[in-house]
Amino acid sequence: MRTRVTEMLGIKHPIVQGGMQWVGVAELAAAVSNAGGLGIITGLTQPTPEDLLKEIARCRDMTDKPFAVNLTILPTIKPVPYELYANTIVASGVKIVETAGRNPEPYLPMFKAAGIKVIHKCTSIRHALKAEKIGCDMVSVDGFECAGHPGEDDVTNMILLPLAARRLKIPFLASGGIGDGRGLAAALAMGADGINMGTRFMVTQEAPIHQKVKQRMVDASELDTALIYRSLRNTARVFKNSVAEKVMEIEARDGPTNFEDLKNLVAGVKGRELFSDGDLDKGIWSAGMVVGLIDDIPSCEELITRIVREAEEIIKFRLQQMLA
Ligand SMILES: Cc1cc2nc3c(=O)[nH]c(=O)nc-3n(C[C@H](O)[C@H](O)[C@H](O)COP(=O)(O)O)c2cc1C
Repeated sequence: MRTRVTEMLGIKHPIVQGGMQWVGVAELAAAVSNAGGLGIITGLTQPTPEDLLKEIARCRDMTDKPFAVNLTILPTIKPVPYELYANTIVASGVKIVETAGRNPEPYLPMFKAAGIKVIHKCTSIRHALKAEKIGCDMVSVDGFECAGHPGEDDVTNMILLPLAARRLKIPFLASGGIGDGRGLAAALAMGADGINMGTRFMVTQEAPIHQKVKQRMVDASELDTALIYRSLRNTARVFKNSVAEKVMEIEARDGPTNFEDLKNLVAGVKGRELFSDGDLDKGIWSAGMVVGLIDDIPSCEELITRIVREAEEIIKFRLQQMLA
């Protein structure tokens, strides 16, 4: 498949692995890139900018294909030296960056000067248009189905993607709720130039998380995600385990939610430990509704090849036959 995404990013298939805190390390990014997609190293998973530089070098040892770095600019309990991370990305020679969270405008001049293509991930058309206006090269449109932060508008990709196709001039990726070839074909039909997947790539051989977490996601249905932090207007879609249920229970109490009441339950360090020790109720982890479509743990190569083959079959046979 040739699309504006494959052309601009220099990749074989229009499939991107979105940044994922604690998951997007060099092994996963390299596996996705080697399979012809675009792998993304998650910048802030590395504790310091120096560690990020080393992680990028490790990824280069594992692939000679393009890969990107994600820079997520969100409010955090501990201040993050974003400027230093951005400088490191430039110094590393990486040529594609995925930004998310806040407006990436302050970092665009340095990225542009270094010839870096910027993909901004956003959850609304107004933010996508803003990203186009300030000079981003591409956007990832994250629908309400997605894992992580879907925003507060609750608009699904069925609406967001055709709107993006009507209004944007720059290429865009459909993100959220995609896990198979049907999703890819549908996204292309709705005007996207490719897809971005998070949850589906978590459940692959190369994702650096405990087998029990992957198996729990294989066993899950589309009803097994929860929206937390709604009361704080910082909504996150996570896997519905006992901790997520406890958080929702606290948020449902009368009166405003005090983050202090949630802090211990949602601590990032617990989510990270859960990924390594497989204790499924230790903390929270991001997951999208697409868990309902996941029923195996393939390698990234198997997954990407299968998705592309399925989508091609749908386009070539199923859709063509309807016209014949
Ligand atoms: C475990 C996990 C962690 C994530 N962490 C981040 C992150 O740090 N920054 C970011 O921009 N997106 C993050 N995301 C969102 C993904 O990049 C992607 O936008 C989203 O997963 C797409 O929806 P899907 O899961 O339905 O494919 C995360 C997703 C998951 C599943």
